Amino acid sequence: MVVSVNEIRKTFLDYFAKNGHKVIPSSSLVPDNDPTLMFTNSGMVQFKNILAGNETRDYTRATTAQKSVRAGGKHNDLDSVGYDVRHHTFFEMLGNFSFGDYFKDYAIPYAWELLTKEFCLPKEKLAVTIYHNDDEAHNIWKKVSGLPEDRIIRIATKDNFWQMGDTGPCGPCSEIFYDHGPEVWGGLPGTPEEDGDRYIEIWNLVFDQFEDLPDGSRINLKRPSIDTGMGLERIAAILQGVHSNFETDMFQHIIKAIADLANTDPNGPLKASHNVIADHLRAICFLIADGVLPSNEGRGYVLRRIMRRAMRHAYLLGVKDPMIYKLLPVLQKEMGEAYPELYARENLIKETIAIEEERFGRTLDKGMRLLDEEIADLPKGSKLSGETAFKLYDTYGFPLDLTQDALKSKDIEVDVEGFDACMERQKAEARKNWAGSGDAGVEKVWYGIQDKCGATEFLGYNTLKADGEIKALVQNGQEVSSVTSGKFELVANQTPFYGECGGQVGDIGVITSKDFTAKVVDCKRKLDNVFVHVCELEDGTVKVGAFANFEVDETNRSRICANHSVTH
Ligand code: SER
Repeated sequence: MVVSVNEIRKTFLDYFAKNGHKVIPSSSLVPDNDPTLMFTNSGMVQFKNILAGNETRDYTRATTAQKSVRAGGKHNDLDSVGYDVRHHTFFEMLGNFSFGDYFKDYAIPYAWELLTKEFCLPKEKLAVTIYHNDDEAHNIWKKVSGLPEDRIIRIATKDNFWQMGDTGPCGPCSEIFYDHGPEVWGGLPGTPEEDGDRYIEIWNLVFDQFEDLPDGSRINLKRPSIDTGMGLERIAAILQGVHSNFETDMFQHIIKAIADLANTDPNGPLKASHNVIADHLRAICFLIADGVLPSNEGRGYVLRRIMRRAMRHAYLLGVKDPMIYKLLPVLQKEMGEAYPELYARENLIKETIAIEEERFGRTLDKGMRLLDEEIADLPKGSKLSGETAFKLYDTYGFPLDLTQDALKSKDIEVDVEGFDACMERQKAEARKNWAGSGDAGVEKVWYGIQDKCGATEFLGYNTLKADGEIKALVQNGQEVSSVTSGKFELVANQTPFYGECGGQVGDIGVITSKDFTAKVVDCKRKLDNVFVHVCELEDGTVKVGAFANFEVDETNRSRICANHSVTH
């Protein structure tokens, strides 16, 4: 009998629970403890302050199944989805963590026992890599697994040195590979054929020893720790005896629902489109459930791009009416038990997708026709003009990467420089109009700030407390780089503070860091999407570029909510 994805997740968590690990729920896809990270991209993100030694909890061993998105920021797999069978925009990462408790001496034996005893994988099918100078890991692997020397491979590249992002805990790692058999093309890690699909990485054991700081330096962690990550979709493919992640039970049920709705053959020539929709559906629903809404900036724009890519594939299946929102029930059935937010946020998810499908559906057809006409005479290997790509973007809502994705199979690229030039021209035009609109000089400050920093990401649908990076400070109508006293205005890259734009009162609360405390007496939105915290400095010095904690006054928020609809 085939063991289901849901059972595999449980076996993993049970194994580590049995070995003294506390089972911790997945954190949100929007990291509230890191202003530099676009999405939670692995299991360690919610523990990063513990790993760094800045926070302790009442446990030193944890295990999780973590929702992860790699579609923006340092780890971005978006362009691989649909072109191979093992990358996803959204995936579940199974992990075990030690916070200064055990190190390599236990992490390696645990991994080996789980794989070979609980999951019963044959030793001959496994190979591991280690960082080139990590003799300690080499010796433990040799003793525990008895793998021959040529299956404990030393790698000197960054593939075996894991970093969460530009800052944060990091260290050498050891990856475990599964051999899908000689009938699949590919070679062992470190060989010229390593990018083939034969040897697939299934588990990464990170030996966290260092921390990268914002100033670019690397320091030793106070307590060496362990962070591991196993892709649930990949291990499921192996345990279910299939090569493609899309052939596992969970994906097959979703793909069947897509084919039923579209009345298509999921294994016919449009197989890849079924896979892409199934993949993107999960990212879309989980991102919305965690409070990300489609927009033209930041996280919201990544979501919009994923949604519109999925919609183009639905269009390729011949479906002209909104259909993706109708797939929520099958996803709930597959994943709703493990992730109840799919039920709790049902209406928000369904409505958000339906509205976006409705909106983009109006221009998708026209844009696709224009694209087809434009490329009709273009030979393979040529470029689509930047003007056309920009027109598709500006008039028909085609994100650049959607156009690029649409042309990939035709071997046509987009003139990205030409596209950027059009974008720049349009911005300059808007700036000129704005400058001439006659508003008071002080407002110009916000225009410059918006130009430089982009829109603020609003996190307040889901949390009242989050870290943010200070992007701009304004005092007496002038942009300044630091503030040492008095009233000022502060803009960050993200905030849980609700900013009012109609002259009413926004959230109040505090912004703190180790260097200052500021009271937030109001929060306003300028130019629609720049959230401006109106502050009074209580002590210390605030500087542009610093990280701080933003905390909304909960009682006041409830009062605002009673009057306006802040939350969905
Ligand atoms: N952080 C590591 C990874 O994502 C292990 O969890 O691969």
